[in-house]
Amino acid sequence: MKSISSLKNIKGKTVLLRSSLNVPIKDGMVLDDFRLRKASKTIKFLISRGARVIIIAHIGRKGTETLAPVAHHLKKDFLGLRFIDSFDDLSKTDSQLVLYENLRRDPREVENNDTFARKLAGLADIFVQDAFSVCHREHTSIVGIPKFLPSYSGLLLDEEIENLTFARIPEHPALFALGGAKFATKEKLIDEFLQKYDRLLLGGALANDFFLASGFEIGESLISDKIPSKSLTANKKILLPSSVIVTQNSKVLRKKPGNVKEKETIVDAIFSDAFLKSMREFKTITWNGPFGVYELGFKEGTEKFAKQLSELKNTKTIIGGGDTIAAIHKLNLENEFSFLSTGGGAMLEFLLKGTLPGIEALG
Ligand code: 3PG
Repeated sequence: MKSISSLKNIKGKTVLLRSSLNVPIKDGMVLDDFRLRKASKTIKFLISRGARVIIIAHIGRKGTETLAPVAHHLKKDFLGLRFIDSFDDLSKTDSQLVLYENLRRDPREVENNDTFARKLAGLADIFVQDAFSVCHREHTSIVGIPKFLPSYSGLLLDEEIENLTFARIPEHPALFALGGAKFATKEKLIDEFLQKYDRLLLGGALANDFFLASGFEIGESLISDKIPSKSLTANKKILLPSSVIVTQNSKVLRKKPGNVKEKETIVDAIFSDAFLKSMREFKTITWNGPFGVYELGFKEGTEKFAKQLSELKNTKTIIGGGDTIAAIHKLNLENEFSFLSTGGGAMLEFLLKGTLPGIEALG
């Protein structure tokens, strides 16, 4: 894989840049511009070297959403940006910087379609892949276009690969913290990281699966289709929350995990102060996924953990996942960690495999 930073002369060239601009929008406004700020570095790099840049990206899953609010937001930094909603209009503009409408409006984007890939490739001299958070998808703009153009990684993709590669071979002692749900989809990662890391801390609905497998009552809490094996739950490297927040109707209670009742639902997972304080012993801490139902306001476990982590100045802290990063922004802690990944699923898949389809496609 070659990086765009290695290309000596791109003056006058047209670059097709796949960026990750999938950000939350409300009432036509960008709610969180973390990914946009991260994407800007490559855009600025290409423009400053005299390239013409056509940005392609997606937003949302329905295929109906629009990137218009993103274009509006980006114009604050890139005054001359032109937003275009049809590829057929591209030939009619000579703007130095163009953002094309949501790729997923064309169903061929998610189908990895060669005709669509060729059409997109036909717009430019060079392709730059910078959309790390989508590199786990075998979509046209991820694995299709590189078949038809000289292709390079962008600066953000380079930065993600460098930091997450470090996370795969951490400096010890190392702690891996995993939240969110679905043990079934995270089982392989848990197995792998039990080998690579010294401690594995599990929160979120993932911890419910381990409570259940250990014979605890978990009431009506969210669980996965698959439950961890006895040998996994007995692994001494695994650390589960010391207390949980449960709800029942309008009641909200704090409990020891073993005391949850049949009609209660676990909504947050909290680690003991003693453990949080001991985290300064770790040289590396990698974290993905919130520990509670963050969107419903059950934030205590996630925020306590984030705050403690932000104070560790001698630990390499690598964090990712949409809800996890959103929590960090809420706390105004964005600059307090070694690296914040723009990836959610892509980060987890990269940690497991050390590569992604979109990276492999770059050769
Ligand atoms: C993300 O938002 O994490 C990526 O853009 C991937 O989006 P997707 O899960 O809709 O493919």
